[in-house]
Amino acid sequence: MALERTLSIVKPDAVEKNHTGAIIARLEQEGFIVRAMKRVHLTRAEAEGFYAEHRGRGFFDELCSFMSRSPIVIMALEREDAIAKYREVIGATNPANAAEGTIRKLYAASVGENAVHGSDKPESAAREIAYFFAGYEVSPRA
Ligand code: PPS
Repeated sequence: MALERTLSIVKPDAVEKNHTGAIIARLEQEGFIVRAMKRVHLTRAEAEGFYAEHRGRGFFDELCSFMSRSPIVIMALEREDAIAKYREVIGATNPANAAEGTIRKLYAASVGENAVHGSDKPESAAREIAYFFAGYEVSPRA
């Protein structure tokens, strides 16, 4: 299995509750390498741009308001089979349906405030990493 990258976001709810460090530690324990990282407070327009594919869906306004309400921590992570493995570690979108021990089960309160984001497929990962990081900011493999 080849190395792969995924875009990870620690969302406002988890940053506000000081869970950032615990979430990053868990991801490192699961074998992810942090290739790039930054903490930013998105504007509403930046959040809408990131979630453009969901424009028109019922939760779009709520999602963009939430993602721009306070800072987030964004990472480009690398691992073998990173996209699928990350989704396994974070658990289901709705924490009520997330498996025991997953990040969303541990740290998320609701489907609207669900602690973390992860890319859903390689094309999304490439687009999402490029949305937040310039090429030189994503360090090559050591
Ligand atoms: S889909 O159908 O698979 O594309 O959508 P899904 O991955 O389930 O959700 C896309 C993002 O929208 C968020 N979401 C919501 N936000 C607020 N309220 C409700 N009801 C809601 N449902 C889904 C969900 O957390 C996803 O955000 P990201 O950042 O991608 O995890």
